[in-house]
Amino acid sequence: MSPAKDGRGLLLGFPDYADPARNLAAAAGLDYAEIAVHRFPDGESRIRLPAQLPGRVVICRSLYQPNDKLIELALAAATARELGAKHLTLAAPYLCYMRQDKAFHPGEAVSQRIVGKFLASHFDALITVDPHLHRVSRLGDAVPARRAVALAATDAMAAYLDGRLDNPLLIGPDAESRQWVAAIARRKRLEFYVAHKERAGDTDVRVALPEAGYQGRHVVLVDDIASTGRTLEAAGRELGKHGPASVTVMVTHALFISDALEHIRSAGVDEIWSSDSIPHPTNRIKLVETMAQALRDPG
Ligand code: R5P
Repeated sequence: MSPAKDGRGLLLGFPDYADPARNLAAAAGLDYAEIAVHRFPDGESRIRLPAQLPGRVVICRSLYQPNDKLIELALAAATARELGAKHLTLAAPYLCYMRQDKAFHPGEAVSQRIVGKFLASHFDALITVDPHLHRVSRLGDAVPARRAVALAATDAMAAYLDGRLDNPLLIGPDAESRQWVAAIARRKRLEFYVAHKERAGDTDVRVALPEAGYQGRHVVLVDDIASTGRTLEAAGRELGKHGPASVTVMVTHALFISDALEHIRSAGVDEIWSSDSIPHPTNRIKLVETMAQALRDPG
């Protein structure tokens, strides 16, 4: 770990997201160093940062499987302040705990609000991609930091799609996906539709497709998160009944819990392209330029 050079900001990465973090630092014109993490046998973590830090520090970590990561992030942020950081930004391409935005049953924690306040208590600014905001429309309402930026993966997705499929037909599997599917369609002047989804349980999902000419078309399903994969599986199965030439999935956050991928593939999906917000073998779409632009922008 080399101390940061004077005058430039420093981006600190964690070992579980080191390559994208290093690339982000280079693209944003920041120096880079890696935070050393040691896990003790009892599950506690020891965190080590460079001994001297510049005034501007960005900590980059994708917050999938978040529980240990959140504690380590708090240790890193508090230590960064002690070592000289005056302005701390969290660059979290995947932001955790955004879906539990109300108490669905009496006594449930509203995790979005609690985790949001926790992050805002440590960081001056937050930059993330496609946070799952449902009943809350602004990221700043969920994470009340001085600056809270919600970027979209749609520019990177549109660029990746370019020239890969002949006249693709874009489908959003549910009402919430309209924002992403419409943004890509607008940029590329493509036809798009949004399906209707009903979810009866974690793995019990039904999707009804709108009337459209699917036969012989290269269909691309666009969504923000694939978790159990049941949304994309249900949409893929419905599409299969209409004889498309191919079905491709394009998704920002590749959580793909447990057997999610098998379920999606078993529905006749040919290709799965995810962004690198969460490291996964399906990563094809790089978010580095999208995130670097936001870091270069002083806000
Ligand atoms: C829901 O509104 C989201 O946009 C995704 O469609 C959903 O989170 C996907 O979850 P799963 O993969 O478990 O169906």
